[in-house]
Amino acid sequence: MRLERWGTRNVLAMAKIFVGAQDRVFVLTGAGISAESGLPTFRASDGLWAGHRIEDVCTPEAWEQNPALVWQFYSERRAQGAKAEPNPAHHALAELEKQIGERFFLCTQNVDDLHERAGTLRLTHMHGQLAKSRCEALCGAAPVDDSTIYKSLAEVGRCTCGARLRPHIVFFGEVPLEMELIQRKIGDATVMLVVGTSGSVYPAANFVHWARQGGARTVYIGPEPPLNASAFTQVVEGKAGAVIPGLFELESS
Ligand code: APR
Repeated sequence: MRLERWGTRNVLAMAKIFVGAQDRVFVLTGAGISAESGLPTFRASDGLWAGHRIEDVCTPEAWEQNPALVWQFYSERRAQGAKAEPNPAHHALAELEKQIGERFFLCTQNVDDLHERAGTLRLTHMHGQLAKSRCEALCGAAPVDDSTIYKSLAEVGRCTCGARLRPHIVFFGEVPLEMELIQRKIGDATVMLVVGTSGSVYPAANFVHWARQGGARTVYIGPEPPLNASAFTQVVEGKAGAVIPGLFELESS
């Protein structure tokens, strides 16, 4: 594990994050935290988009023009996600939440359910969830649980309003979910931990700036610095599963 220091505010050159009795921790995770569970990241050369142009599988236009391909892509993701298991990084974050309760909040860009399966309770999926579908006509019906691996468009279910179900995924160009809640939680946070995200997709790449405006300490963990590395108080270079267990030093009450 290599430690890098960025910016003048970084004074701690050690892989420990002190969580005081009054601290509130906001965690943002990206595809990197699930890499050690066997789920490929998006922008690695062997990543998820390989063989698929984003425009063909993850935009409102793709859905309009070729819903069969979009459902094929997300059905493959469902199959892959179901085989994956939470890794030590997911478990360590769930353990931190057990210790600090309501002072913990996690926002993930991931659509897999590995945080929930590790036991995390206070979380939101800003880019949607693989194991849910929702009405393509936005009739107002809530997303429904749906882990079906569809073999053809004809199998895809219908909403109660009659419209076709689409994956509960935020396509490029769509507004991420729960932004009001997320902004509030960032505003409350005194510590922000960001794990395994390249810092290339907005608004998530801006969260570190919002947290710093509020005076929070901000730490990034991943094997390489993200694009927005210079905004962090501290960047810890290493794999999430190796770094996060044992990372937190809790103030004893
Ligand atoms: N531990 C921590 N980080 C890791 C690990 C690991 N074991 N392995 C890889 N990483 C890091 C990479 O260094 C990279 O910075 O994870 C990051 C993955 O970046 P991306 O593939 O760009 O994924 P992400 O940032 O989550 O993508 C954001 O883009 O395509 C959309 O909606 C999709 O939510 C996704 C969003």
